[in-house]
Amino acid sequence: MSRAEIVSMTEDCPDLQAIHKAGSILQSGGLVAFPTETVYGLGGNALDPEAAKKIYLAKGRPSDNPLIVHIADREDLDLLVSGIPEEAERLISRCWPGPLTIILQKSGIVPKETTGGLETVAVRFPDNRIAQAFIRASGGYVAAPSANLSGRPSPTSAEHVAEDLGDRIDMILDGGPAKIGLESTIVDFTEDIPVILRPGYLGPEKLREILGEVKMDPGLLSEADANTPPKAPGMRYRHYAPAGDLKIIEGEPAAVYAEIRNRIHAHLQAGETAGVICTEESRGEYPEGNVQCIGSRAEEETIAKHLYEILRGFDEAGTAYIYSESFYTPLMGQAIMNRLIKAAGHQVITAEQKGDSNG
Ligand code: TXA
Ligand code: MG
Repeated sequence: MSRAEIVSMTEDCPDLQAIHKAGSILQSGGLVAFPTETVYGLGGNALDPEAAKKIYLAKGRPSDNPLIVHIADREDLDLLVSGIPEEAERLISRCWPGPLTIILQKSGIVPKETTGGLETVAVRFPDNRIAQAFIRASGGYVAAPSANLSGRPSPTSAEHVAEDLGDRIDMILDGGPAKIGLESTIVDFTEDIPVILRPGYLGPEKLREILGEVKMDPGLLSEADANTPPKAPGMRYRHYAPAGDLKIIEGEPAAVYAEIRNRIHAHLQAGETAGVICTEESRGEYPEGNVQCIGSRAEEETIAKHLYEILRGFDEAGTAYIYSESFYTPLMGQAIMNRLIKAAGHQVITAEQKGDSNG
């Protein structure tokens, strides 16, 4: 296939002609990447089993990893599911359109190819006017995983999509950088008590305020072992990982800075490349290496927004050893660290208080 056509626009000034064309591409079985407020999605017609197969092929994704069906009108949910519990109704009335995906029992209209063989379906109503116009132009039901190659960080810009999928899809709607930068919170309503399958911008406190009792999928907790895999199939795979070796260094700030400084210094002495993911507050602590400032702890949404871009940047720079501070910020910290820990393949090290060992 030739390179995908890329059309730039803004939410305030959408290119209706391009969106119409994108809709026609989906209606005739093709694939189009589009912006959402979380990350870019790779869209295909959710009711067409062949489109789902094409999505898996383009991403290089295992076909047992289900896709999220995106809608642009609350009423369109009714057709996709076999029933909507009252608490799910309450949550979506407060949080849609927005960075929330819900899991319900699917109806007969949703093909098994879209749901990775499951009897349940994931549904989301994104809060982005380009996405909404595109979904409507496509017939109302767009299956879309994040628009990255399987295993790479999710794309937060059209450039990231083009890098991964530019020669595998038909078109990319470029709506500029994603506002949030982390994938939606996934809440499963198919059990007695709602379960968070993937943490996101919409945090547990807010969910509890609306729903009352909410559980965290035990497979997501750091103590989880191989016997309790996460329920969302996609959360089981190695993910978001840069090509270099990424480790998270935790502990007292001064000890963390010293540990990372020492490690970077040792790598550089050995003729290796090394870098650090730090914040505005700490960038002055690192005199050498590839120093990447992710955002500011005082504005935690900046950290979420830049995470994937920073991880991709290390690949471009070819940095072999990457160290990151941890970012347990008050609201989004759980979601940010969930992604970062996966990217690091669970390599989390506590810095020694004295801070000058190389351990
Ligand atoms: O923010 C988002 O959710 C983005 C944008 C494009 O909307 N989409 C996204 O899709 O992150 P994807 O495919 O990269 O991640 C979907 C996750 C996967 O972990 C998948 O296993 C899980 O949702 N999932 C989908 N359907 C499910 C189901 N029926 N039961 C359990 N998990 C499901
Ligand atoms: Mg993904």
